[in-house]
Amino acid sequence: MPPATSPRLSVVIDTDPGVDDAWAILFLAAQPDIEIVAVGAAHGNVPTAVAAANALRVLDVAGLDHVPVAVGHPTPLQQSLQTSEFVHGDDGLGGNAGPASPRRTSPETAAEQLVRLARQRPGELTLLALAPLTNIALALRMEPGLPRLLRRVVVMGGAFRVPGNVTAWAEANSAHDPEAAEEVLRAGFDLTMVPLDMTEHAWADDIWLKRIADAATPAARFASSVLDTYVALYSNARGTAGCVLHDPLAAAIMADESLATYEEYQVMVELAGHTRGATLLDDRKFDIPQGGIPDQRPPVRIAATVDAATAMDRIHRALVTPEADR
Ligand code: BDR
Ligand code: CA
Repeated sequence: MPPATSPRLSVVIDTDPGVDDAWAILFLAAQPDIEIVAVGAAHGNVPTAVAAANALRVLDVAGLDHVPVAVGHPTPLQQSLQTSEFVHGDDGLGGNAGPASPRRTSPETAAEQLVRLARQRPGELTLLALAPLTNIALALRMEPGLPRLLRRVVVMGGAFRVPGNVTAWAEANSAHDPEAAEEVLRAGFDLTMVPLDMTEHAWADDIWLKRIADAATPAARFASSVLDTYVALYSNARGTAGCVLHDPLAAAIMADESLATYEEYQVMVELAGHTRGATLLDDRKFDIPQGGIPDQRPPVRIAATVDAATAMDRIHRALVTPEADR
């Protein structure tokens, strides 16, 4: 059902569901003061068409079958498509995606949808980008005024003071389309990055996950049912049972900025060589006039500390609280 009262935040989500993307959508769908206006499906964890089919499924589970899903661009801007089924399962939802939604995707592309909505509602919409930034870069090419038309952009992406998760230096969403990330970071959006440095604190251990598995809501049931491949991967990597909830943490920070503290930097994405896809910031404490970010790009806000315990508590509550009690 569309929200009855006027929402505090109206959000367009660009996403590649993907297990943690699905959880992020379910979290946001349970916020009574947040309106999900539309979803754009991106390549990343899975190909774009699979991401779109999964977005429709998740919205249906959340009771948001009025929210349109537009299919995004099938490939990164320059490199070839690289997906992560080994993390998210062959169907992107742990092999348990279930039957297809009876709904269809929209006739427009994800970039066209974003531009249309931003023009229709100038200054109103927040964009939550949980995937490679291909669709956002293409929207920018169509509408260079997009940074003025959107209220705010929150990006899950980048790795600054921790290793990457696709290469030793690059986080998945920047590694899967470095050129797009560069275009977006240079464009002048009011932009907050929630990098791997923060999302790695959003650890769901087996006890926390059991509390979701024991809940009876449709959201909790679905969220638990898609976890197997994802949890196996993270449990193996950390040597203890659980998983990292990257995108839900970014969604929780978007919903309540006070969950994090921020630092402002110019950020660039490495486009060449071994470190391609790495996100770089200039953190020198004294002024050396050369050898930094090579242009006068606007600074972006990077989440620097996070209250992960409160965020995890909110994610838990969102999934286990029946709709009638919200
Ligand atoms: C990001 O990459 C994807 O695998 C996740 O969905 C998340 O958006 C984490 O690096
Ligand atoms: Ca994602």
